[in-house]
Amino acid sequence: MLKSGVRIIRKKDLNYRIDGQGRIVRFRPWLGDSFSFLYDTIMKNSIFPRKFGGQMSIHYDILTQELKGVHDKRVLELAAGSGSAVNFLAKDNHYTGTDISPGLLKRAARNFKTAGFEDAKFYVVNADELPFDNNVFDLCLCILSLNFFSDARKVFQEIKRVLVPGAVFICSVPVPERNKRQNTIRGTLYSEEELKTICREYSLKFESIPAENGALLYFRAFL
Ligand SMILES: C[S@@+](CC[C@H](N)C(=O)[O-])C[C@H]1O[C@@H](n2cnc3c(N)ncnc32)[C@H](O)[C@@H]1O
Repeated sequence: MLKSGVRIIRKKDLNYRIDGQGRIVRFRPWLGDSFSFLYDTIMKNSIFPRKFGGQMSIHYDILTQELKGVHDKRVLELAAGSGSAVNFLAKDNHYTGTDISPGLLKRAARNFKTAGFEDAKFYVVNADELPFDNNVFDLCLCILSLNFFSDARKVFQEIKRVLVPGAVFICSVPVPERNKRQNTIRGTLYSEEELKTICREYSLKFESIPAENGALLYFRAFL
């Protein structure tokens, strides 16, 4: 499952990449790791209502509906955070969660264990440089995170590389045209048209998911 030449070390529940000097590759955390325990509360009570003008419960309903037929698949999640996917993904899937934040991923590992996933692995890696081999995953999730990647095209290149032909990419992301209250939302906001263009560039067939939840756009893209 790993790209040849990639070296990984496992520490407790997480897998870390090792660089040429034998050191663990670390990233500047997006939210200070020591604040990871606050993440879920901040998302539910602040980011969803105040920034997105939406609701976390609606978000989970939309994704549950979208993923209800997904069983026994090899699922990759980019920027998995604290493991929100346990709220909408069936536990019989073979899950690989990635994120740059060990603090959030540790929480994700705990949440997946509690939810009863038997096959769940976690990697501290950047979404634009995945350690996985080509053609490994049936489904890729990227939830509320695309706006944080410094080079979205590099991430799409990786998505295309690691997915098998016929696989699906499912994404939820704030877009400027749905941000009716013009709230300040962190990161780079791509419009739906821009996202369609990027998908086309990587031979992914874009399909908007008909759902309303404040500033959030939900879409699927087929390889
Ligand atoms: C708003 S959170 C979303 C987390 C989760 N998907 C959710 O829905 O709760 C954004 C996540 O992106 C991660 N992140 C930011 N830049 C990243 C990158 N370049 N590669 C991987 N993860 C990244 C952060 O650590 C954080 O967990």
